[in-house]
Amino acid sequence: MSTATLDKVEAESAASPYITVTFRIRRFNPEVSDEAMWQDFEVEIDPKERVLDGLHKIKWELDGTLTFRRSCAHGICGSDAMRINGKNRLACKTLIKDINPAKPITVEPIKGLTVLKDLVVDMEPFFQAYRDVMPFLITKGNEPTRERLQSAEDRERFDDTTKCILCAACTSSCPVFWNDGQYFGPAAIVNAHRFIFDSRDEAGEQRLEILNDKDGVWRCRTTFNCTDACPRGIEVTKAIQEVKRALITRRF
Ligand code: SF4
Ligand code: F3S
Ligand code: FES
Repeated sequence: MSTATLDKVEAESAASPYITVTFRIRRFNPEVSDEAMWQDFEVEIDPKERVLDGLHKIKWELDGTLTFRRSCAHGICGSDAMRINGKNRLACKTLIKDINPAKPITVEPIKGLTVLKDLVVDMEPFFQAYRDVMPFLITKGNEPTRERLQSAEDRERFDDTTKCILCAACTSSCPVFWNDGQYFGPAAIVNAHRFIFDSRDEAGEQRLEILNDKDGVWRCRTTFNCTDACPRGIEVTKAIQEVKRALITRRF
């Protein structure tokens, strides 16, 4: 190689954005052991990349058995919520540079749901609570002959809770949910809120009664973990408080 070429390679190498990051991942494979264990992987990565990119490198280049969910990779589908450095986040929305890559980055499954393998949990109890609050528009009487109109002010009433992507970061960060998993959880309440406060919907009373259950809204202890965890910035605790208030006043 000529001196000029060597200089060019060295200059490119010096300018390389890549650093070595340790990913410390909670592994669990029920076919191998009943116990979960931590496993470290060293990954060359640009700190401007995301935790999801690091997980992809591990799966594609180091250990194809690493199991996790992801789909859109852009914060839309809600499938890659996980506990990163002890906090619930979406792996596809978490930049390496924002979470101190000088130390090992810990990655664990979200809490409160049964781990099936590695970072994959059983989401069924979460989605059952979602289904229980009837997350769809319910109206009575004949089908209208034109679209149902709604004022901008009425639409604004539930705008925040329309942003939910059902990632479960909120519910799986709630200590009440960790306790016994029976609590409906903040995500189900957020999705009930979205319809209870929709002026076109006519099943608000029914949804309120569902959430008046012993495992409903009254179990919320206003811990705010859910609001802190929500990757969509939804004011989850505020929505829960509004549902509680509607239960007391019957005005919504
Ligand atoms: Fe995820 Fe936020 Fe919806 Fe909870 S409220 S499921 S954290 S998007
Ligand atoms: Fe849990 Fe959120 Fe209430 S973390 S206790 S649902 S404020
Ligand atoms: Fe879809 Fe992260 S992969 S939200």
